[in-house]
Amino acid sequence: MKNFAEYVDSIRELVQSRRSISPSEWRERLAVCLDGEPHRVLRERVPQPELRQQGAYFTGPKLARRVATTATGGSEIAPVYHDPACGAGDLLLAIARRLICQRNLAATLNAWGAQLSGCDLSADFVRLAKARLTLLAAQRCRVRPPLDPVASDDVFPNIVVADSLASSQRWASGDVIVMNPPFGYTSAPRDCTWAAGRVNTAALFVDRAIHDVSDGGRIVALLPDVLRSGSRYVAWREATRALGCVIRETPLGLFDPCADVDVYLFHFEKNTCQPTSGEARSRKPTFGVGKRFQVHVGPVVPHRHAEEGPAVPYIHARSLPPWGECADLQETRRFSGRVFNPPFVTVRRTSRPNAGRRAVATLVLGTDPVAVENHLIVLLPKDGNVQTCRQLVRRLRSAKTDTWLDSRLRCRHLTTAALAEMPWWYKP
Ligand SMILES: C[S@@+](CC[C@H](N)C(=O)[O-])C[C@H]1O[C@@H](n2cnc3c(N)ncnc32)[C@H](O)[C@@H]1O
Repeated sequence: MKNFAEYVDSIRELVQSRRSISPSEWRERLAVCLDGEPHRVLRERVPQPELRQQGAYFTGPKLARRVATTATGGSEIAPVYHDPACGAGDLLLAIARRLICQRNLAATLNAWGAQLSGCDLSADFVRLAKARLTLLAAQRCRVRPPLDPVASDDVFPNIVVADSLASSQRWASGDVIVMNPPFGYTSAPRDCTWAAGRVNTAALFVDRAIHDVSDGGRIVALLPDVLRSGSRYVAWREATRALGCVIRETPLGLFDPCADVDVYLFHFEKNTCQPTSGEARSRKPTFGVGKRFQVHVGPVVPHRHAEEGPAVPYIHARSLPPWGECADLQETRRFSGRVFNPPFVTVRRTSRPNAGRRAVATLVLGTDPVAVENHLIVLLPKDGNVQTCRQLVRRLRSAKTDTWLDSRLRCRHLTTAALAEMPWWYKP
């Protein structure tokens, strides 16, 4: 990140400059460096793989405002806000825009320094976060360079270089944790109670926040939507809810056009409150479809399963007519695992949010048991009745299903849990 360090130095020079700057130059420099400039420069100067490895995707102004509005809307008096993965400080800046200014720059930096805390693995990011917060304070106190000598490295003493996931690191200082943690994958720690193997790092950050924050402390986080809706994170969601209250989970769509990942706003309070939002209440499962159908993922993974066992009719996403009925299955393969007796409905697992027709279905008929590929979900009617299957296909085709699935799931894969929870529309 050497090239980025040069950019950081140029911002720090602005803070430390002993020469006076014209009002127009000052306004221009502030406008860019307090907005999305660091992220633009980072993308231009640092290779993508390096950014991805560190999860260095800074929050844009709109989402940062969203986090700050929620974080500062509580009843705490002068709370400490802690960002455990603060990057260039975009979330802390959005919060600082809402803090009051004191009688002069020095007093303002002092007061903000007591309320804003954070850390990051990157020393450059930490230096940049401090410099940008100082520039914001100067802007809001209406002073221009040369700034008061207090605007040095000693400001914001609680923003430091550290690994937030290290066992020695405690986050107890924050009343409100704000974060957009890295979304990459890592191995679950040995004491992880809700998963083994590779897990999303964002889930570990939330875990850590929940354990370290005091009772009544809040967490306001931008998280990848897979944590809200993925079946792999059911146990994580349960473990989270056992320790407090999810006040709100709001889907926010794409993080930004360059990072093709959907995010949601997670607002949590440790140990004290009851759910308040209609949104949180309405996420209770209805089990409309699950009451009538058993829902399974197709078990055949072609590249993993050897062609062994009896030859059986075989279906996969490309062999089925969307919205059709299929009685005469031409393709066969050998398979010794679970097969399904028709009639049943299949739904393609891959479906893009907001693309319309999210649950593309096909009714499978016939008499022989069928092997089903892994990109299909199988819905077996509990009454074994083909009419119940046709009723389901009508409901899956309804616009109500698209709307419901768009709000229930932002990730591309449909899950068996989401389909089982889907309401049985009385007027599809
Ligand atoms: C997605 S960026 C978010 C930065 C900032 N909070 C924002 O919203 O713009 C995540 C940041 O986490 C940092 N990071 C990654 N792993 C970390 C760890 N274990 N401890 C502290 N920071 C970490 C990265 O360097 C990166 O700056």
